[in-house]
Amino acid sequence: MCGIIGITGDKEGMVSRLMAGLTKMEYRGYDSAGVCISHPEGLDVKRSEGVLDNLKETVKDMKDGTCGIAHTRWATHGPPTEENAHPHCDPQFRVAVVHNGIIENEVQLRQILIEANNNDCFKSETDTELVAHVLAQELDAECGDVVPDDEQLLAAWRRSLDRFDGSFSLAAVVKGRSDVILVARSFSPLILAHNEAGFLASDVSCLVGMVKEVCFIEDGDWGLLHKDRMELFDSEGNPVSRKSTKLQWNEEDAELGGWPTFMLKEINEQPAVVRACLQGRLSREALRGVKIPYKPDLVRIIACGTAFHAGMMARHYIEELSGIPCIVDHAHEFRYGTPAGPKALVLGVSQSGETADTLAGLMTAQERGYPTLSIVNVETSTIARQSDAILGIRAGPEIGVASTKAFTGQVLGGLLVALRLGRLTNKVHTEELAVISNAARRFPNAMERLLASTQLEQGLKRARRLFHDKNHAFFLGRNSSYPIALEGALKLKEISYIHAEGYAGGELKHGPLALIEDGTPVVVISSEGIIQQKLFGNAREVSARGARVIMIAVEGDEEAAAHADVVITVPKTHPLLQPIMHNVVCQLLSYHVAMDRDCNVDRPRNLAKSVTVE
Ligand code: G6P
Repeated sequence: MCGIIGITGDKEGMVSRLMAGLTKMEYRGYDSAGVCISHPEGLDVKRSEGVLDNLKETVKDMKDGTCGIAHTRWATHGPPTEENAHPHCDPQFRVAVVHNGIIENEVQLRQILIEANNNDCFKSETDTELVAHVLAQELDAECGDVVPDDEQLLAAWRRSLDRFDGSFSLAAVVKGRSDVILVARSFSPLILAHNEAGFLASDVSCLVGMVKEVCFIEDGDWGLLHKDRMELFDSEGNPVSRKSTKLQWNEEDAELGGWPTFMLKEINEQPAVVRACLQGRLSREALRGVKIPYKPDLVRIIACGTAFHAGMMARHYIEELSGIPCIVDHAHEFRYGTPAGPKALVLGVSQSGETADTLAGLMTAQERGYPTLSIVNVETSTIARQSDAILGIRAGPEIGVASTKAFTGQVLGGLLVALRLGRLTNKVHTEELAVISNAARRFPNAMERLLASTQLEQGLKRARRLFHDKNHAFFLGRNSSYPIALEGALKLKEISYIHAEGYAGGELKHGPLALIEDGTPVVVISSEGIIQQKLFGNAREVSARGARVIMIAVEGDEEAAAHADVVITVPKTHPLLQPIMHNVVCQLLSYHVAMDRDCNVDRPRNLAKSVTVE
């Protein structure tokens, strides 16, 4: 969701450093942004509606300083206007606050503050402005107009935090104290770090290149960030110190490196992701490195968005390879749903490791006594630290909001877990494992061949034309290609804003067929074996009603062309891996359709990379 950053040090240049941090974090939210520089004589706040480039213009002549906070917003309270952009201040401009999360007792707090002041005291519709008002009120109570010392700051901050319910990471600066930033974390992530200055951020990727080590403060922690140290307390008010860990990525990993967009770069990085993810993990001995907390009778997978579709793939693998039944739930459904079942293992899937619902689902599972395992990309994330065991997918930073390479890594993570469970249940024998690992070894090369093929290029050229002026599209799959149909449809709607639905081919006659009309694009994710003929049947049914069929088939499939307007083929690989190959074509198709419509594929409207609020 929103991204926050703060820096306090000795050197000037804070405006450009904060802007650089915001640029790296813009994928978290991009409907408005703002900066506050804390000068010894007072606070200077600049905010702009829209993308970060607008703020860059606004801060051009801003007076530089040595301490500041900044924010990029993904609106939850009120539209994306300059008034609602962070930082927010109290009426006297004594404090400025940036916030990621939601203050849930907003209505009550607003009422109390209106009664104490007057109805005109609020300039925005945000919950964050209330934080500024409350902190200013508590500072008044603590030390009147005098510039607070550390002790007074901490006392006022603690009393303020006691008044907020909800999830938040907060950073605040106070007039006259341009040497320090107040910080707090409740559920939403917050990271602190030091080198020649003190840093805070809601997302580790914005600190890449600025620091080498980071400290993930714990839920309930709060305190002061000084330029050379952090003074932290837990929710009970006890002083605490938190360990730092080395950053997982370096600066080049998070840069475009000559690609026109992050999405295209990340799609093309997938062969490397496959190599990295499976490296040293597929032998009989190495599989033991996939830590399974215990041998379950049931696996319950929880995830959101693209990770949910990867979870659906994992279910296929787990049931097929281990024989253990598996249920996949959206994390937000699981968290308020029924207990996990006897001897269940709860498996979370999350690229960022910060998705609020997935985290809450895992915590709910733990409260119910179930062990948890998570497939994550960010191995230092909150979900990673909360889970009993993790499997890192080693995909490197994913910047494009619509997930691509992380999906591939998550699916492979699911395969590794399934293989490990299959060894535990004695269903995967050494020979079968050898066959799969040989196929997996050849897989990245085959993927590279696909990405470089003129057949793909030509096919995409013809296929994307079928989406011209279209507002609806369908993706059909069956069995293991069904999650790919769902993911294909999600990708298309996320980045091109074309309404797209993924369906299991067998469902076609139970509703969606009514929507097929002349020219409706239908993408069929074909496969081999028994489901192939069924999908051909589906293709014929939609063609007969005027649809234009784009078939993604396996190389050597002679029959596919008879059932489609455009056929794009992919290299043949092991059936377990085949859907990943098909998905690459879906990703590229969505990419080109979106580019044809001049959409910003890296930052689709209304969406955010990490959904850190419920
Ligand atoms: C957001 C992103 C998606 C992502 C989903 C789950 O909706 O835009 O790309 O799949 O969150 O994120 P996670 O980090 O938990 O995988």
